[in-house]
Amino acid sequence: MSEPQPTPTTPAPARLVRPVVLIGLMGAGKSSVGSRLADLIGVPFADSDKEIERAANLTIPEIFERYGEPHFRDGERRVIARLLDGRPQVLAIGGGAFMDPETRALIAARAVSVWLKADLHTLVQRTAGRSHRPLLNQGDPRRTLEQLMATRYPVYAQADVVVDTELGLTHAQTAGRIIAALEEHGRRTARGALEREDE
Ligand code: S3P
Repeated sequence: MSEPQPTPTTPAPARLVRPVVLIGLMGAGKSSVGSRLADLIGVPFADSDKEIERAANLTIPEIFERYGEPHFRDGERRVIARLLDGRPQVLAIGGGAFMDPETRALIAARAVSVWLKADLHTLVQRTAGRSHRPLLNQGDPRRTLEQLMATRYPVYAQADVVVDTELGLTHAQTAGRIIAALEEHGRRTARGALEREDE
């Protein structure tokens, strides 16, 4: 007779106890990966750019053109503050939003931030041929992205969790990396975002 085999244990489902905010440069995949991540954990997903467009009833290029970037940044700060109302959700924010000190402080107080970190090649490829990003619509997009990496990456580095993403990964694979990184973060801190019921 053969020995009884141990029953494989399925990990308990992960439960989000704090909002997760995805930050990163244009083309990092915040919206597509964020929405996949939210599906996997079973929580709502929000995107600050979409909410700004809805509130203004204008597209982002239209807001930049009619009112200028400072006006867009004011709206962005207000919309993110409204969205971070405490309920567990995944929130993707526009690439410039984390550069605002007030927004950074709010995220630090109310959420766990995840920087989706991509190299220049990935960002250039993923933003190519799209026209909905005013900052990339003039000049050489590669140069603009390179300059933004230089100014923003040191600030993005303040995120609670850093996850690398690159061309060739599916959204689900990157979302899986985020879940693993959030679980690791949760083991190191009392302010984690993901909990498993068996822990
Ligand atoms: C911006 C990024 C965009 C959008 C706006 C400005 C930025 O969002 O908010 O065009 O300053 O990096 P994505 O990062 O989602 O493309």
